[in-house]
Amino acid sequence: MTFLASAPAKVILFGEHFVVENEPAIAAALDLRVEVSVNLLDEKRFEIRSGNLFSFVRLDDLLSNHYSVNQHFKPLYIILRKVIEKYGFEGGLKFIIKSPIPMGVGLGSSAAVFVAFSAGLLKAVAGEYDLEKVVKLASEGEILAHGRPSGIDPTISANGGVIVYRKSEGFIPLKAAIPLHLVIGVSGEVRSTATMVEKVLSLKKRFPEIFEPLYHAAGHLAIEAAKAIERGDLTSIGMLMNINHGLLSSLGVSTMNLERLVHAARDAGALGAKITGAGGGGAIISICPQNLLETVASAIKRSGGFPLISKVSDRGVSVIER
Ligand code: PMV
Repeated sequence: MTFLASAPAKVILFGEHFVVENEPAIAAALDLRVEVSVNLLDEKRFEIRSGNLFSFVRLDDLLSNHYSVNQHFKPLYIILRKVIEKYGFEGGLKFIIKSPIPMGVGLGSSAAVFVAFSAGLLKAVAGEYDLEKVVKLASEGEILAHGRPSGIDPTISANGGVIVYRKSEGFIPLKAAIPLHLVIGVSGEVRSTATMVEKVLSLKKRFPEIFEPLYHAAGHLAIEAAKAIERGDLTSIGMLMNINHGLLSSLGVSTMNLERLVHAARDAGALGAKITGAGGGGAIISICPQNLLETVASAIKRSGGFPLISKVSDRGVSVIER
């Protein structure tokens, strides 16, 4: 029997970084999905394959914590061990991960993998999964991968759609009144979310009088943006994205390449454009009228970025049996 789990990539539409200090942020799931297939094995061992990376660990070694694996797979084996210890399992499993999501650019590729992996694993071992358990497991993976994550990535990937998220309060779903079309521009600059988060937090700590009001402004901005999304007011959404980009620049997370992509998108007719995710590289997003998607994508390409045309999707994690 095969379980086929899948989970979406995400973008943060508003409020990245500010969310780490408990301001509200808005995230959306994309129509770009990771797939994790889970097959039962006769042998008592666990295999994980992702692209050309492969590893396996025997059940006994996993339970006694006597194994060493590629850094890339470590969070997955930790999730695996937690589930096996909780539910008990005497067999083996083979996981194959397929992801079209560019890695390390702020599109939530790791969270989508952890979410799909956790859901497929729970289904195979416990017979069922629920979103709360999936988010909790995937968040543990995120902590290992990213240091101090706010939890927004696994939450949106598991639930799908658009959410307002606040660290201390969890999330509420938003009903977008219109389809949200995005052109993403991947910059090609590599960065680490954990490093960027630490950099921003130390800047804030150094100048608290300046940054406290800025963080509150970002919180208000996210609330205004939530209202604009629910009324389907694309013009306001775009304007608020531009303001949000300015706030992120003041946190020191923009780069010359990101600025180039943001301005290329705006000049080509996007209603608004901003960094998405941790910045320091990674990607930008722009919100566009449907008839300008290709034009904006070409402008991003001419400016040295890799464009991805995408749409916000209501689908969160799912598992089917085959
Ligand atoms: O991993 P990224 O690039 O999507 O960044 C996550 C967003 C941050 O707010 C910077 C960090 C977090 O955990 O919320």
